[in-house]
Amino acid sequence: MKIAYNLKSSNERRNNQLKPEKTLPFGQLRTDHMFLMDYNDGEWGNARIVPYSNFSISPGATVLHYAQSIFEGAKAFMHEDGEIYTFRLDKNAKRLNKSAGVLCMPEIPEDIQIKAVHALIDTDRLWFPVQQGASLYIRPFVFGTQDSLGVFPSSFYTFAVVLSPSGPYYPQGFTSPIKLLITKKFHRAVPGGTGHVKASGNYAASLQAGEYAYKNGANQVLYLDHTNTYIDEAGSMNHFHITRNDNVVIPEFTDTVLRSITSESVIELQKRLQLDIVQKRIKVDDFISEIKNGGIKEAGGFGTAAVVSAVGEYLLEDGGKLTVGNGEVGEITKYIYDLYTGIQTGKYEAPEGWLQ
Ligand code: COI
Repeated sequence: MKIAYNLKSSNERRNNQLKPEKTLPFGQLRTDHMFLMDYNDGEWGNARIVPYSNFSISPGATVLHYAQSIFEGAKAFMHEDGEIYTFRLDKNAKRLNKSAGVLCMPEIPEDIQIKAVHALIDTDRLWFPVQQGASLYIRPFVFGTQDSLGVFPSSFYTFAVVLSPSGPYYPQGFTSPIKLLITKKFHRAVPGGTGHVKASGNYAASLQAGEYAYKNGANQVLYLDHTNTYIDEAGSMNHFHITRNDNVVIPEFTDTVLRSITSESVIELQKRLQLDIVQKRIKVDDFISEIKNGGIKEAGGFGTAAVVSAVGEYLLEDGGKLTVGNGEVGEITKYIYDLYTGIQTGKYEAPEGWLQ
């Protein structure tokens, strides 16, 4: 793949936005450039890096009407050697193609996706955030551009990558646990649907549940499966809990649960963590009883953006509250977070191939 470059940088904008004393929000800032590539006549082409700017697409584009759109979330970190490393981008590239299959979109060769991200980061490397704990959030996405109101897969697509110098996903950071509302009112996904992939429409469909959680004093909802029996996900993260015996339990990856790269990575690290990590279907009623009787001592969520986030409290729809442990970030959650972020930032040795 040959990439065409059309560059235009702004040192002033960068210096204003990346002031060391600023706490960076998640996902708000953009770097100077973006990567674009088009799908026409059955093949991907015209790979280019251009100044970050608005798109011009047809008002009839399938993405605008029928949400034929998928995305990924990945991160890059600066190490002590001054180099920027992407973390497990090959996993994101694979998952983007899995999402593409489910939404009847063309796949993009993994090596091209990775090369696109690396070329863009190289171009905008001076945008790496200087704040402690911040990272470069990478957002690749693909959307249908055909001007058509018929409901069928688009013949034309754009693949784009943008970068966002970002702070923590939850503004309070890792040290303040979040609250989840356990509700039977909203469901994120159904069997046979798109819940196991990163379809943009999944996130549009989650907005009303998020607002409902917020109005009820929580940061997000704990999604149950459509029968209201099993735990599915924690907002836009996978859920986990830690038992009295220090076992980490993650809901099984069914077709209503996203295969989080963070969960998969933590599972791959279990030997090094010296923890038993199991995946199974978890009945919400059992989960609630176990918190009440002290059988669950920590809980949280895994996700690229949120990394490892502790849950301190579950709110119930009848107004009840369940505090997990002492409501603070638990010891094992912190231990997982420290190893995971230590590997990402180069403090600890990474497994072969995790950093590029
Ligand atoms: C991520 O964790 O990167 C996600 O995709 C969640 C996002 C919707 C912020």
